[in-house]
Amino acid sequence: MTGASSGLGEEFARQLAAAGIHLVLVARRKDRLAATARDLMQAHGIQTRVISADLSLPDTPQMIYDQLRADGIAVDVLINNAGFGLYGKFTDIAWEREQQMLDVDIATVVRMTRLFVPDMAARKSGWVLQVASVGAFLPSPLYASYSAAKAFVLSFSEAINFELRGTGVSVTTTCPGMIRTEFHDVSGQAYTWFQRLMLMESEPCVRASINAMLRRKASVVPGRVNALMIWSLRLTPRWLMTAIAHRTMQPD
Ligand SMILES: NC(=O)c1ccc[n+]([C@@H]2O[C@H](COP(=O)([O-])OP(=O)(O)OC[C@H]3O[C@@H](n4cnc5c(N)ncnc54)[C@H](OP(=O)(O)O)[C@@H]3O)[C@@H](O)[C@H]2O)c1
Repeated sequence: MTGASSGLGEEFARQLAAAGIHLVLVARRKDRLAATARDLMQAHGIQTRVISADLSLPDTPQMIYDQLRADGIAVDVLINNAGFGLYGKFTDIAWEREQQMLDVDIATVVRMTRLFVPDMAARKSGWVLQVASVGAFLPSPLYASYSAAKAFVLSFSEAINFELRGTGVSVTTTCPGMIRTEFHDVSGQAYTWFQRLMLMESEPCVRASINAMLRRKASVVPGRVNALMIWSLRLTPRWLMTAIAHRTMQPD
């Protein structure tokens, strides 16, 4: 599972470990991964493997795949959770950061999926969970390329989930709303009134995401209010949803 050093990823690790699932934890901050791994091994008697790696680098997915294969570790569940957003006007964001974000949020998700799914299909069993966002459903000014990246993840994953019918492998995409994690520290945004109103904890979001994955659903929007909000967008013109997204993301 990627992005296990904080936020949703750490919570995914806790819930899966409580179910007795052995874990491979990937992120850059090795100390935090190691502390989580130690806790979970002691609490649940599971086995863990920590891989400290930068997922914005193009060779990282292959390196992870090769390491696990060399050690005879078969991945039954792949959770592409690592990701980050950058808040602000597109033209104000430094290109280097933008490129890293697109690499982690898009290229690495596609590459990891491409590497691990064929082995799952050969075993006729596997689950992939992609972490997108409610931002996948609408153009979001001030998170323009982040929300577009999540739209890519949702569209790509729904399509390959369809292609994989009958193989024993499913791809589920979870689209969380505002969750209390380190996301906003990294994106550089102070919570707006709307985000404070909609804020959810990681625990129910991760529980709903895992349930959807186990039921092999194509996608899920955790939280009833979030799900209702996204459903109601179906009848909203795109110019209006773009204006609403902009309003909700502006500072108080
Ligand atoms: N929180 C929200 O409101 C929200 C809403 C919708 C979707 N999401 C999505 O949920 C996912 C998890 O985010 P979060 O909210 O839990 O935020 P978070 O607490 O900041 O966690 C992000 C995780 O991604 C990892 N990561 C980021 N860049 C990386 C890189 N270059 N290489 C390796 N690992 C990297 C981080 O690990 P290191 O820093 O240790 O590398 C960390 O473990 C993301 O895909 C995010 O887009 C979050």
